[in-house]
Amino acid sequence: MSPEKENFVEHTLVLIKPDGVYRGVVGEIITRFERAGLKIIAMKMVWIDKDFAKKHYGAHLKKSFYPNLEEYITAGPVVAMVLEGVEAVEVVRKIVGPTEPKSAMPGTIRGDYAHISYAHADKTGKSVCNLIHASGTTEEADDEILLWFDPTEIHTYKRAGEKWLK
Ligand code: PPS
Repeated sequence: MSPEKENFVEHTLVLIKPDGVYRGVVGEIITRFERAGLKIIAMKMVWIDKDFAKKHYGAHLKKSFYPNLEEYITAGPVVAMVLEGVEAVEVVRKIVGPTEPKSAMPGTIRGDYAHISYAHADKTGKSVCNLIHASGTTEEADDEILLWFDPTEIHTYKRAGEKWLK
């Protein structure tokens, strides 16, 4: 086990989805993660195609909402990043909020930047635009980071003041 893993330090994949990019809130969203002390160790903008979407959302291909989800995630560029921090997978999901914006509390990204419900999306045939994807487990994070980033794109460095954060 690496020293980082022993210390509960984890890596997680975060995507700012096309609605976040089109709405021009990328900087505001990144600030929330940085403010919590999470470290960006990889970042790029990518406009994925349908084949790549199927790889990323492989677990959801058979779900009724998949066509809408695919249309949404391929509708524009996404900002992909790897964040590092103590129990980062769970902490990032807490900062992001639950999947349905209507249910997300104020103070979370989805609760502050969106409000759409599953019921509205289903009734109107829209996708649930919820701004962010964040890995759900450490195993999922490992697979997703491998899918989105070449190891050479992931960097090791110390942030100023890091000893006060982890
Ligand atoms: S999660 O985050 O995986 O636990 O969420 P889950 O509820 O399993 O949903 C998986 C992804 O599908 C998206 N989703 C939808 N997209 C469009 N329309 C509908 N109705 C819908 N329901 C769920 C959800 O946002 C998850 O995508 P990510 O990018 O992981 O958030």
